Parts: sequence; structure tokens; C-alpha cells
Amino acid sequence: MTALNSDIHPVFGQILNRSDKEKLLNQNARVIWLTGLSGSGKTTIAMNIEMELNKKGFLTQILDGDNVRTGINNNLGFSGDDRFENIRRIAEVSKLFMNCGIICINSFISPTHKIRHMAMEIIGKENFIEIYINAPIEVCEKRDIKGLYKKAREGKIKNFTGIDAPFEAPEHPDIELKTNKLSIEESVAKSLEVILPIIEYKQY
Ligand code: ADX
Repeated sequence: MTALNSDIHPVFGQILNRSDKEKLLNQNARVIWLTGLSGSGKTTIAMNIEMELNKKGFLTQILDGDNVRTGINNNLGFSGDDRFENIRRIAEVSKLFMNCGIICINSFISPTHKIRHMAMEIIGKENFIEIYINAPIEVCEKRDIKGLYKKAREGKIKNFTGIDAPFEAPEHPDIELKTNKLSIEESVAKSLEVILPIIEYKQY
């Protein structure tokens, strides 16, 4: 049975807060949110950003669609409602990491304005760095690393983003990476130019 809100007594006061933890880790926590089509390069860029941040001494956590969907979100599919719930849970999980001082690097298709806006509201606009991994659908489909576009074209997968489910490009991302024009190194360098000044430790 679901508990009544009046029966739930969350404790916040006694818990060490985010700034205590940021100080310990010598970094400012944020959520770096990569959005883009399947096959656009989100996972690769996320892993390379993490590697570079790790070398510089930052503590990070990657959350990635395919991984999360085999664990905490293994009961969700790809309907609009399930994608919304997928991203809602991810946003809440990211907030926990962030409140622990950790920089979260999220790579999810997160296909619509509504879905990304919901994530941003949960995480807080001031904490949210949006990266649009922008590769044209033709390029993603040609790469077809997982063979999913082929299956979608054959009708073996329904609601596939970019084929028979929508992808709405972000209008004002903090960073846009055209991964069909930039090398991985260039994409990472472009991202770090924006990210580093934000996460380098400052006490607020
Ligand atoms: S999201 O739309 O809810 O944000 P998410 O990023 O978690 O998607 O998962 C996307 C991954 O699931 C893709 O990279 C792909 O490997 C796999 N996948 C399986 N079915 C679909 C589908 N119908 N649409 C998009 N991706 C799918």
C-alpha cells in the first residue's frame, strides 16, 4: 500500500549538505546532460569527457540509457509515457549524485522538449548543462552500430526515435557538438571549455 504523505517524515536537517561534500571533493557538482539520437555518439563523448575529468581529479558518475534500462529502469519500454518515467527517475538519481558533490554525466536520447524540461526542473536549471549531440539521422542510420535502425526500418522495433517516434532538437543547448564534423577530441575539448570553469571549486 502506498504511504500517505502525512506519514512520511523526510530528514534533511541532520544530513551533511551538498556544499560540505563539494568542499571535500574540491569541485562543484553539476549534471551534464547529453541528448541526441541513438548512434549520434552520446556514449562515446560521455566516456571521453569522464576520462578527461578523471585525469584532472574530478569525481564523476556516468548514467547511460542502455545500462540504466537493464537495471533500475528494466520495467520500462519506449512509449512516450515510459520514456518520460525513464528520464524522471534518471533526473532524481542524478540529483542524489549531485547532492553528494558528484558530477553526473548523463547520456539519454531524452527525445522531447517536455522530457528534457522535466529533467531540468527536477535537477534545477542552475545545475543543468545541456549538450546536444547533433548528428543527422542519415549519419546515425548509416553507422547503425547496434543494428537497431535496420530493425526499425524492417518494422521489427516499433517507436524507434527518428524513424517512427519523434526527436525534437534542443533550441538553446549550452553546447552543441556536430559529431559528424568534429573528432572525438574536438568534441571533448569544446565541452570542457564550458564545463571546467563551472565545476572548478568555488564556495558559494
Ligand atoms: S529515452 O528515449 O528514454 O531517453 P534511452 O536513452 O533511455 O531512451 O535509451 C535509448 C537506447 O535504447 C538506444 O540507444 C537503443 O540502444 C535502445 N533502444 C531500443 N529500442 C529503442 C527505441 N524504440 N527507440 C530508441 N532507442 C531504443
